[in-house]
Amino acid sequence: MELILRPITPNFGLEITGIDFSKPVNAQVKKELNDSFSQYAVLVFPNQGLEPAELIQFGEIFGRVMEQQLKDFVLPDFPLVGYNSTKDLPSKNGKLQVRGENYHTDHSNDLAPPRATSLVAVQIPSYGGDTQFVDVRQAYDDLDVDLKNRIKNLRSLHVHGSSRSPRSFAKLSPEAAALIPRTIQPLVIRHPDSGRPALYLNTGRMEGIEGMAQDDGFQLIEQLYLHATQAKYEYRHQWRVGDLVIWDNRSVMHQANADYDPSEYRYLYRIMIAGSPIEPAFI
Ligand code: SIN
Repeated sequence: MELILRPITPNFGLEITGIDFSKPVNAQVKKELNDSFSQYAVLVFPNQGLEPAELIQFGEIFGRVMEQQLKDFVLPDFPLVGYNSTKDLPSKNGKLQVRGENYHTDHSNDLAPPRATSLVAVQIPSYGGDTQFVDVRQAYDDLDVDLKNRIKNLRSLHVHGSSRSPRSFAKLSPEAAALIPRTIQPLVIRHPDSGRPALYLNTGRMEGIEGMAQDDGFQLIEQLYLHATQAKYEYRHQWRVGDLVIWDNRSVMHQANADYDPSEYRYLYRIMIAGSPIEPAFI
């Protein structure tokens, strides 16, 4: 088996062919895949069409496949495998209210947020429904020195749903809400494998900046978010049935798009790979 690597963005998107994940993968190939993942951050494997058990096996190449948080959207026979399906979504003014709209990194309010998330496209609408990614390592590198110095030791409280969240979250019972973690995370993080610094942003979950007046904190978050979500940092994945994509939640933010015909069906399997506590870039 020889991996064929084709960069799809200059720095962070890599398409890999020459591999079939329905078959066992040896230690050397696992290492090559993890090395590519650490360097690039979004890996695209076209035409894999994995079944749930094969997807779990694929996930184990990158770590421990963890439980899904939204238990309402897991496969009954494979509780580690979640799904994103248009059939579960409410529609408002003819537009689907999709999960994952607005750029974010998954479960940033957890002490140890998932290292990675992976989707397999099972059914895709004829138009739209792309997933976008932005490289928050490059976005950090490009900040001017003054701003880098200003934010280097700042931290933010991440909660289930920020009081200024641009997107809405599932309503939780008081009991469920009490179980959802709240964690203070650094604004600039260091990647545990590559050592690269990156911005750590999630406007849906960040409750201001520690030690700053509320409005000033939210203004700084917005400034960094607008910087990091510029088109020059973006890779936009147009799904084809069978595509398998995995991304590193410490190196990119991602967002879903609700721009497709709500009567068409979009369905993807989803797994998450367990992560470690977020490390600050500067101590
Ligand atoms: C998500 O996992 O945030 C949603 C991604 C998608 O469905 O495109």
